[in-house]
Amino acid sequence: MAFTIAIDGPAAAGKGTVSRAVAAHFGFAHLDTGLLYRATGRRTLDGTDPVEAARALRASDLEADDLRTPDVAQAASRVAAIPQVREALVDFQRAFARRAGGAVLDGRDIGTVICPEAEVKLFVTASDEVRAGRRFRELQENGFDTTLDEVLDDLRVRDARDSARAAAPLKPAGDAITLDTSDMSIEQAVAAAVEAVAARLEN
Ligand code: CDP
Ligand code: CDP
Repeated sequence: MAFTIAIDGPAAAGKGTVSRAVAAHFGFAHLDTGLLYRATGRRTLDGTDPVEAARALRASDLEADDLRTPDVAQAASRVAAIPQVREALVDFQRAFARRAGGAVLDGRDIGTVICPEAEVKLFVTASDEVRAGRRFRELQENGFDTTLDEVLDDLRVRDARDSARAAAPLKPAGDAITLDTSDMSIEQAVAAAVEAVAARLEN
């Protein structure tokens, strides 16, 4: 049985954390689609053409260790505004979404463009300050030399670019359930997401 859960939202909202936990709970596969844009963006840092980079992407590229850096995140957001880059990545995402056994995909346009027919759509968000705080702690734990202000700025620049672009902008699907996790622990956010999926699976 194919069953697709689409999880979208702004940067560092907790999409990946919620997606991984929901996928584990229901035994579904998980795809972090941000990695597709991060891997594409990373390749452009040495001057490779973004559309060529997206077309040449291999599954093994998604496992590179250096995809989580702020520089790569900005490069991802820049290449993600190019319609031909997005087109090159559509088929892979849709095939993943419809695999037997269920799939969770997280990104910006899963519920709106990639899987408008997804059985469950969540829009996971939190205030700018909360998101920046979470990402800052994460980067610090991984040994990055950065400041809270730098991280806040990075998120705001990406969110503005991701929301303003013409191609598949960041926005909640009309039928998405919004989950504001500003005041939620990871456990509470995961419980709310699991409940929304369980309700749909029972019908
Ligand atoms: O995938 P996305 O960029 O939206 O966010 P993430 O990587 O899942 O979460 C960013 C950071 O926030 C991680 O370090 C999570 O552990 C943390 N987080 C949190 O503190 N509280 C939540 N409710 C969700 C995530
Ligand atoms: O983890 P975080 O939320 O910081 O970023 P990400 O989900 O890894 O996405 C990195 C960038 O890729 C975003 O800022 C978007 O520009 C782009 N992206 C996109 O355009 N569409 C998606 N489905 C996923 C990511």
